[in-house]
This record gives sequence, C-alpha cells and structure tokens, in this order.
Amino acid sequence: MALVLSIANQKGGVGKTTTAINLASSLADLNKKVLLIDLDYQANATTCMGINRGSFKKSIFDCFKREATFEDIRIKTANQLIDVLPAKTMVEGVDEKVIADSNRDFILYELLKETKNDYDYVLIDCPPSLGYITINALMASDGVIVPVQCEFLAMDGLTQLLNTIRLVQSKKKVNQETLTIYGVLLTMLDNRVNSGFQIVNEIKTYFKEKVFQTIIPRNITCSNATFYGVPVTVYSPKSKSSLSYKNLAKEVLTRDE
Ligand SMILES: Nc1ncnc2c1ncn2[C@@H]1O[C@H](COP(=O)(O)OP(=O)(O)O)[C@@H](O)[C@H]1O
Ligand SMILES: [Mg+2]
Repeated sequence: MALVLSIANQKGGVGKTTTAINLASSLADLNKKVLLIDLDYQANATTCMGINRGSFKKSIFDCFKREATFEDIRIKTANQLIDVLPAKTMVEGVDEKVIADSNRDFILYELLKETKNDYDYVLIDCPPSLGYITINALMASDGVIVPVQCEFLAMDGLTQLLNTIRLVQSKKKVNQETLTIYGVLLTMLDNRVNSGFQIVNEIKTYFKEKVFQTIIPRNITCSNATFYGVPVTVYSPKSKSSLSYKNLAKEVLTRDE
C-alpha cells in the first residue's frame, strides 16, 4: 500500500508544486509507482507534468463534488510510473457542495482508500490555503512535507500550519491513524546570500531532525523547466536542482523504511 504524503504550506511560492513534480519524477527514477494529486485551482502541477488543460473534462474538483471517481479523471503521463489526478481552474459549485457534505473532511480519504493500493507513493500538491481542500489532503495522508523558502519571514505562518496539522492529527487518532510531519524541506537557498543560511539555522533549531538534509538550491533551471511543462529532473537531469531532488527522493525512501 502506498505512503501518502501531502506537500503543504499555506504560503504561496515556497516550492510546493516544484517539490511535488520533481519528487514524483525522482521517485519514479527509483522505480517507484507514483500518483500525483493536484489540489490547486491554478493546476500548475498538472501542466508541469505535460498535461494540457484542454485535454480533459473532469478534474479532482468534480471528485470533491462527488460527481466523478478517481478512475474517471486519472491521466497517464509520459512517464509510465506516474499517474496524475488533474486540477482545473473554474469548477463551479465546489464550495457549496463540499460545505453541504456531511463527511466533508473525508472525501479524499475515502476516494483514496482503494486507489492507493495501486501505488508506492501518493503525493498531494496542496493549494496555498488551509481551507477544506488542504484539510482533506492532510486527512488522507500518512505524512506531510513542509517546504520552507530560505528567505525573510520563512517562519511566518508556520504556527498556523502546525495548528492545522495538530487538529487533523487529533481527528485521525479517533480512527487509530496518524499523520506525521514527514519532513521540513528547505527550498530556494541562494548560496550568495548570508540571510539564507540564517534561515536554515533558525529552521533547524526549531524542527531539528525533521529537517531534510537535502536543501534545494535556488536555480534558474528549475523555473525554466516549468516553462516547458516538465520536471527539472527531466528537463536538465544534471542541474543542481535536479540532483538535489534526486537526493530528496532517496531521503524520503530512507525515512519510509
Ligand atoms: N529551487 C528553485 N529555484 C528557482 N526557482 C524555483 C525553485 N523552486 C521553485 N521555483 C520557482 O518559484 C516559483 C514558485 O514555486 P512553486 O513550486 O510554484 O511554489 P508553490 O507551489 O508553493 O506556490 C515558481 O515559478 C517556480 O518555478
Ligand atoms: Mg503550487
């Protein structure tokens, strides 16, 4: 059965989507079968996996409305070890439907129960908010990876995220299930800027061994890859950011043992 990991931080632009697609690609390189779930209306993870937004009708948000199953929306990618449950912009009526749903926090959890048997890892790319979509992701997960950008105010908002994680942990406990902070990932470290290293120290002091040893450097190749709709591990396999995501995948495997 798959290990389900959410990639979450309600701050935008910290590297959630970049981590989701490159970790998926790097785990596949290690011969692991991966399901990538895109939960952001911006659908960046979907696009970055080479899926054209016009090429499919129903998305994960139709599943939230309970008007589609995972089977209905699952898309195969160029990498045969990676499947995607795509997101799409502008799906009307999702909020209303979910708010009225008596089991609203467990929609993803229930849908994933069967599907996760087909994979080694399920990676969930969360939106930049702590609303019901992220709650659903955490509820369905075994662990959460928190990307933190090595920049000023990196710690900002983390308390809110940790409170949300604690809330979900207590709800999961009722079912004898757990949600761990699988790892804190330092992203976009600029080697030329001293303050970046200060942030690294600050985060390590706070989260200790939870912090992944792998730090993702700021690297232009990483953002360029987005433009071509492929993970950087495919676009430029030997680039610094690509190698760091490959190391992250190895660390994820080790923590899973
Ligand atoms: N290591 C990196 N080096 C350079 N640019 C990066 C790196 N990681 C992400 N980016 C860029 O930063 C922006 C925000 O990253 P993204 O993964 O979309 O964040 P989030 O999903 O948290 O909003 C994107 O334009 C992305 O291409
Ligand atoms: Mg994103």
